[in-house]
Amino acid sequence: MSTSDTIRSLHGSLDGLAPDAMLRSLADAFGSSAVFSTSLGLEDQLITHHIFSQKLPIRVFTLDTGRLFPESHDLLARTISRYNERIEVLFPRHEAVETLMTEKGPDSFYRSVADRKECCAIRKVEPLGRALNGAACWITGLRAEQSPERSLTPLVEWDEAHGLVKVHPLIGLTMDEVKAEVERLRIPYNPLHDRGFVSIGCAPCTRAIAPGEDARAGRWWWEHVEGKKECGLHVK
Ligand code: ADX
Ligand code: SF4
Repeated sequence: MSTSDTIRSLHGSLDGLAPDAMLRSLADAFGSSAVFSTSLGLEDQLITHHIFSQKLPIRVFTLDTGRLFPESHDLLARTISRYNERIEVLFPRHEAVETLMTEKGPDSFYRSVADRKECCAIRKVEPLGRALNGAACWITGLRAEQSPERSLTPLVEWDEAHGLVKVHPLIGLTMDEVKAEVERLRIPYNPLHDRGFVSIGCAPCTRAIAPGEDARAGRWWWEHVEGKKECGLHVK
């Protein structure tokens, strides 16, 4: 079967399913070669819940950039203890971080978009490549509502850069729907969400947003260029 036939057939079998059923179906199709990347954000906590509470063989990993909020580490601990399941943690290569910080100091990301992307490449993109090595299906918590670019993202797509199928089970959900599910299922979540933080990444690069502000306005808020709000994890 060609790649586009595979994508079309997977889309056909998943479209219309609720996220828990979608994840069951992905586990049936890919087993442990399906992986889920969690940033520990609200969407990702919902997916983690469905994977762990249904005891699915999908591998769950998180990228610890070394610059996360203490609240995110606390949530990681609470999640592991609530489900008694394994979340793989990947760190950046220490030599690369040592060189970056020695040459440019601890906050080079504020200097320019190129410097910010260099830090994201070292702390996120390189470890992501290692996490996806050998995987056939990458599951994420992306939602269409999050940004104009993401509104064009389909439920199932082919990720050329990593050579795998990428699936976003919550792509069509609104923030209110995610919140309602997290509340209903009593899923642990980051208390920063109650303090105006919508999308939570690294501490020095994330701030709370005001009511009505764009969902991703709190990420790399000092940058004012087109297409600025991605760190390189999600490229076509
Ligand atoms: S980012 O590209 O801007 O950092 P965002 O925070 O919106 O991404 O999260 C979108 C999806 O990317 C998450 O649902 C998750 O699948 C993945 N992701 C983002 N950050 C991480 C992380 N630190 N570790 C693992 N996955 C992540
Ligand atoms: Fe570095 Fe900020 Fe990117 Fe985190 S979000 S990896 S601290 S530039």
